[in-house]
Amino acid sequence: MPIIFPDIAIEYLKNADIVGIPTETVYGLAADATNSQAIAKIYAIKDRPQFNPLIIHVPSIEMVEELAQVSSFAKDLMQEFWTVRNASMSFVLKLKEKHPLSLLALAGLSTVAVRRPNHPIALDILSALEFPLAAPSANRSNTLSTTTARHVLDSLGEGVPVVDGGSCKVGLESTILDVTNDNLSILRQGIVTEDDLKSYGQVNHANHGDAIKAPGMLKRHYAPNRLLKMNTSKKEEGMAFLGFGHCPDADLNLSVSENLSEAAANLFKYLHALDKSPFTSIGVSPIPNIGIGLAINDRLMRACDNPPLQHYT
Ligand code: TXA
Ligand code: MG
Repeated sequence: MPIIFPDIAIEYLKNADIVGIPTETVYGLAADATNSQAIAKIYAIKDRPQFNPLIIHVPSIEMVEELAQVSSFAKDLMQEFWTVRNASMSFVLKLKEKHPLSLLALAGLSTVAVRRPNHPIALDILSALEFPLAAPSANRSNTLSTTTARHVLDSLGEGVPVVDGGSCKVGLESTILDVTNDNLSILRQGIVTEDDLKSYGQVNHANHGDAIKAPGMLKRHYAPNRLLKMNTSKKEEGMAFLGFGHCPDADLNLSVSENLSEAAANLFKYLHALDKSPFTSIGVSPIPNIGIGLAINDRLMRACDNPPLQHYT
């Protein structure tokens, strides 16, 4: 029963489950953006080798204001491109100091990409929920984006619940515009182009092909202030020990039952929690390099000062 109606999708999403939803650009694989357990399911099913930051989908500018710092300039742009032009546009903004979003969905960044999809079904679903939805394109990692419900099932498997909204009109992911400072910067090309933005100020381009992956690919794009050591087997003097599996001396444990999805959901939250005095370093148990464990190790390697060579494959 992989094709579901929007009201069932709403129930699934409230229960921290993932659902394929139509948007005007491509199908999205949606989950509660405030729930790291739900977000971990997205990474697991997409088979993503890294945690890329996900676009946070909202029904309104009001909801953006609960998540991010919205300058009057950014608000004008959202009003123009979302409300007046119904354009497929994501905006990167600085996060509010206090926000409800899952750190896993944000991949530990201090900025957030937000988007109001221009699709009646997506908007109906978003409007029925009290939380925003993280929704990357609904396809297995490194394969084509999907523009019909059938594509989604072919790519992610027949078991994934999908709302069928027909073929996506745009067929290409949204333009991503960084408005965190005075210079507008296009991070991902899309249907909204530089020409459409010129009247709002100077427009820069991030490095073309790299732009899509940029935040997730930066070497030390999320790192705690403390020295991070991978493959640690026991707690040492001054060290905060982040365990996985049976670790009686762990300060926090990513997953006692060795569940990699649970570990992914806890990763950023626990790294933040341990990145504090009196600790001088953070040691992390070995994480199996399989499934979503690949993404966990990828993220740890970027945060770690002496990454183990065997994880460079
Ligand atoms: O059209 C779309 O935008 C589709 C549909 C489903 O809405 N969604 C989509 O989402 O493409 P997603 O999560 O796959 O896009 C992820 C990309 C990242 O690879 C990154 O380039 C960018 O969005 N991104 C997300 N958060 C960012 C941030 N804080 N700063 C810069 N780029 C960010
Ligand atoms: Mg994608």
